[in-house]
Amino acid sequence: MKFHDISCSQCGACLKECGPLREAITSTDNGIRIDLDLCITCGHCVAVCPTDEIEHPLSPRQPLMDKPPAPEAAAMFLRSPRSVRCYKNEGAPRETLLRLVDIGRYPQTGINTQGISYLVVDGREKVEALNALFCETALKLIPEHPELARLKEVIELQKARGEERIFRGAPQLIIALADKDHPRPRENAQFSLTFIALMAPTLGLGTCWAGYFENLAVNDSFAAPFWKFLRLAENMRIRGALMVGVPDVHFRRLVARNPLKVEWR
Ligand SMILES: Cc1cc2nc3c(=O)[nH]c(=O)nc-3n(C[C@H](O)[C@H](O)[C@H](O)COP(=O)(O)O)c2cc1C
Repeated sequence: MKFHDISCSQCGACLKECGPLREAITSTDNGIRIDLDLCITCGHCVAVCPTDEIEHPLSPRQPLMDKPPAPEAAAMFLRSPRSVRCYKNEGAPRETLLRLVDIGRYPQTGINTQGISYLVVDGREKVEALNALFCETALKLIPEHPELARLKEVIELQKARGEERIFRGAPQLIIALADKDHPRPRENAQFSLTFIALMAPTLGLGTCWAGYFENLAVNDSFAAPFWKFLRLAENMRIRGALMVGVPDVHFRRLVARNPLKVEWR
C-alpha cells in the first residue's frame, strides 16, 4: 500500500506542515493523499489536523497536548537531575525501568530515524562482572592504544581504594543499542538517554552516564568482548550507557554552570 487517501475539509494545515518531504502529502479532489513510501512517519500531519480527520496508518493519533509548564518550572525540571554516584543496592523493579526507558522513544531524531533499543544489565553482580571485563579489556588494549591511557588511572584507583569507579556501585545499567547499519546511532542514543536521565527522578531514580565504559563499548574496534558478554544479536551495536538505580544521596540545591556566552550577528 503506497498511498493512503483521506477525505477531509482540506484546510491545508497538514500540507503546510509536512516538512522534510513536502510531496509526501498532496491534495486530492476531496481531501489529501499520503505517499507512505515518502512519509517519514513524524506524525505532524495527525498532530496539527484541527478536525481530527487524518487517520494515518503508520502514525496513530496520540493524546491531546497540555500547555507547556511555566518557564521557571521547566528550568527547575531540566536543571534538577544530577549525575548520581551513590546508589542503594536494590535495583528498581522492572516495571519502573520499563516506564523509564519508554520515554527514550520520544526525542527528535534526524529524519525521524529513531531505531534505539535497550538492554538492561539487571543486578549488582552482573554489573560487577561487566566492570571486571571492562578492566581486563582496557588493560589489554592500553599498550597498543595510547589514547586509552587515562582509563588506566581510573582502573588503578578503583583497585587501590576498593571502590567501584566505572559504574559507581549502580545496581543496573541501561545500554542503548542500534543496528550496525543505523545511519545516526550515537546521536539518537544520546538524545534517548538524555530523555531517560531527565525522566528518572520523577520515578524516584537517579542516573549517571557510564562514560568510562562508553570509551570502549561504543567503539566497534574495542567492543567485541562486551557484545559477547551481553549476548547481543549479531547485527546490534552498543551506542550508549547509563547507570541507574535508587539514589543514596540527596541534593538540596541546584548547581552553578559557566556563565552564558552568546554572540549576535
Ligand atoms: C558523556 C558523559 C560521560 C560521563 N561519564 C561519567 C563517568 O564515566 N563517570 C562519572 O562518574 N560521571 C560521568 N559523567 C558525569 C559528569 O561528570 C557530570 O555530568 C558533570 O560532572 C556535571 O554534573 P551533573 O551531571 O550532576 O550536572 C559523564 C557525563 C557525560 C555527559
